[in-house]
Amino acid sequence: SDASKCPFLSGNQSQTAGHGTKNRDWWPNELKLNILRQHDPKHNPLGEDFNYAEAFASIDYDELKKDLTQLMTDSQDWWPADYGHYGGLMIRMAWHSAGTYRVGDGRGGASTGNQRFAPINSWPDNGNLDKARLLLWPIKQKYGSKLSWADLMILAGNVALESMGFPTFGYAGGREDIYEPEQDVYWGSETEWGENAARYDGEKDPLKRDLEDPLAAVMMGWIYVDPEGPDGNPDPIGSAKDVRETFGRMAMNDEETVALVAGGHTFGKAHGAADPGQYVGVEPHGASMAEMSTGWKNTFQSGVLDDVITSGIEGAWTPNPTQWDADYFDVLLNYDWELTKSPAGAHQWTPTKESQARMAPTAGGTGKQALMMTTADIALKEDPEYLKISKRFHEDHKAFEEAFAKAWFKLTHRDMGPKDRYIGPEIPNEDLLWQDPIPKVDYKLSDTDIHTLKSMIESSELTISEMVRVAWASASTYRDSDKRGGANGARIALEPQRSWKVNNPSELNKVLDVYQKIKETFNGEVSLADLIVLAGNVAIEKAAHQAGYSVEVPFTQGRGDARQEQTDIEQFNYLKPAGDGFRNYKNANVDAKAENLLVDKANLLTLTVPEMTVLVGGMRVLGANYDQSDYGVFTENVGSLSNDFFKTLLDMRYTWKETSEEETHFEGRDRATGELKFKATRADLIFGSNTELRAVCEVYGANDGEERFVNDFVKAWAKVMDLDRFDV
Ligand code: HEM
Repeated sequence: SDASKCPFLSGNQSQTAGHGTKNRDWWPNELKLNILRQHDPKHNPLGEDFNYAEAFASIDYDELKKDLTQLMTDSQDWWPADYGHYGGLMIRMAWHSAGTYRVGDGRGGASTGNQRFAPINSWPDNGNLDKARLLLWPIKQKYGSKLSWADLMILAGNVALESMGFPTFGYAGGREDIYEPEQDVYWGSETEWGENAARYDGEKDPLKRDLEDPLAAVMMGWIYVDPEGPDGNPDPIGSAKDVRETFGRMAMNDEETVALVAGGHTFGKAHGAADPGQYVGVEPHGASMAEMSTGWKNTFQSGVLDDVITSGIEGAWTPNPTQWDADYFDVLLNYDWELTKSPAGAHQWTPTKESQARMAPTAGGTGKQALMMTTADIALKEDPEYLKISKRFHEDHKAFEEAFAKAWFKLTHRDMGPKDRYIGPEIPNEDLLWQDPIPKVDYKLSDTDIHTLKSMIESSELTISEMVRVAWASASTYRDSDKRGGANGARIALEPQRSWKVNNPSELNKVLDVYQKIKETFNGEVSLADLIVLAGNVAIEKAAHQAGYSVEVPFTQGRGDARQEQTDIEQFNYLKPAGDGFRNYKNANVDAKAENLLVDKANLLTLTVPEMTVLVGGMRVLGANYDQSDYGVFTENVGSLSNDFFKTLLDMRYTWKETSEEETHFEGRDRATGELKFKATRADLIFGSNTELRAVCEVYGANDGEERFVNDFVKAWAKVMDLDRFDV
């Protein structure tokens, strides 16, 4: 018929929109600007005006905790509770939610609810945690938008502990859910679960190998270490090295680490009833549609209770796995343990016959089974430093209890950043060093005060470049991943920041001295932190004026000055930038390309593509390079907030050529005369060579673009200065 000849009806369409080969397939090295476009509020079903803190405050918190307590022992037929109590499972879910956090870049952790999404929902190490979240759904459903998944998962861990007799240190809400998996987190470059060749550079010896930064897990798809030991070898000393390294990268010291592992393993059990290869199906993200985003379907006998297969290791650590008690160290230290294999074939440790050990109940509650330790648990006895702590905790149960309570609170709240972000009725009063405390200010500047301060700054000898550099150096340590850093606290005046090369210490000292004097003249009624930011504003207003624009940069006063003893030097060193493209800085020892470091930093500063572009273009003409170099300073009028950077970049009068073999540096010459005009780094030329960035540069470099540029620069600058103001 005629109809069958219609071109729209014939043909066999197998693909729909969004399929087919993509730019990333053709050009795998393409700059990943997508990481600046994540979590667009438009795609959050709660809407842009939703206020989570207010919603959370409206919860009947006692009722919520009662509901969670009841849930712990309300065993469901589709996934019955071991020993009639879901406590162990819920603690493991909360721990795995928090345990992806790493200090290197502050990414990972419990604060986003990312365990709901791939890859994390499907990591082998998160086996059967889909069940834990599904068990929580009725509670999530009841409280709806008032309670995020991220908050619920951690609270479930706390209530699990409390319902088994453990006194927790406290709880804070305030974690807002994301609605898509993160694209910015680097989880490693291996392409197989359980692989680790790339992160250890091929080194096999566990005592010699050095984990790639900023990773904090020994292999792809795991949260921390291999429970059987390094690369599956039951080697407790090698395991101790892995545990120390991975927990260290979660900001935990030896004592916290021992407390956490021992405290956690006082509860619950490991599951290894049979060979996973034979009986366990695929992970949630790869499962068939009818499995409805659950995974690891277990066909071994009943598939539940005593027949569950998760890690492959089998058994409980203590004789009473649903009770907080001192048994973990009792059994670890008092019994001798020998290497055995679980029914699933995994290496594990069992008390020797001579130990005449107590036993644990079976999960179904009808029998008894031998106690178990993983190789990582045995490390707490074999490693000399861990052993000292284990013995001390064994002798002093109260000390162990307190250490576990504090370490658990740190584990589950560290990635939330400052205490100002905490909400709810169970926030501990005590200030903790890892919260990076900042004293509150007791002054309020009037408009006249601000005006006076600005005049004092203006009549100092400082240049626009100096003031911009220091303000940027102060504010740009902020990282949204764990909400640490930023201008509040003026930690730029303290160690370690005041000595970082990127902060140009001698210049920094000179500038801070000037601010310190102004502070004194003002009777201390202004903080150094506020002055640093205010001076940046003065500089930008002056620079805009020189370009012919009158602007006022918004100023949010009220920053406090932290003291040195409130500043953990080791932990603050993790904020040291490997590169800062905004100041044209790159640590020579870092392999990553300058443009990738720039986008990484822009992501941590929550900048959009236009915000990153406008800031770089502005900072170059303000002469804000860390070492006062002229790379990217494409203007004759340094210190004037013009759109010259963009105009030069787009100007065909100039031709560019690399001056180094690695293409890290370039020079721009006049095409006609060959005269050397400009110098540039990759963090400059990327704005011309990447078409998406170039498109934004064309907006700012156009004849009608300069005013827009000045206004957008001011907005983006003020945003960066205020990124850490959770107190207002
Ligand atoms: C379960 C290993 C640290 C809490 C498990 C399991 C393994 C394991 C293999 C069994 C999973 C299963 O088959 O169901 C390790 C290793 C650690 C570590 C190697 C570090 C060296 C921690 C920490 C906590 C914790 C820090 C919490 C503070 C738990 C709990 C369970 C568990 C409560 C029982 C889960 C249940 O009953 O279903 N762990 N773990 N673990 N882990 Fe850990």
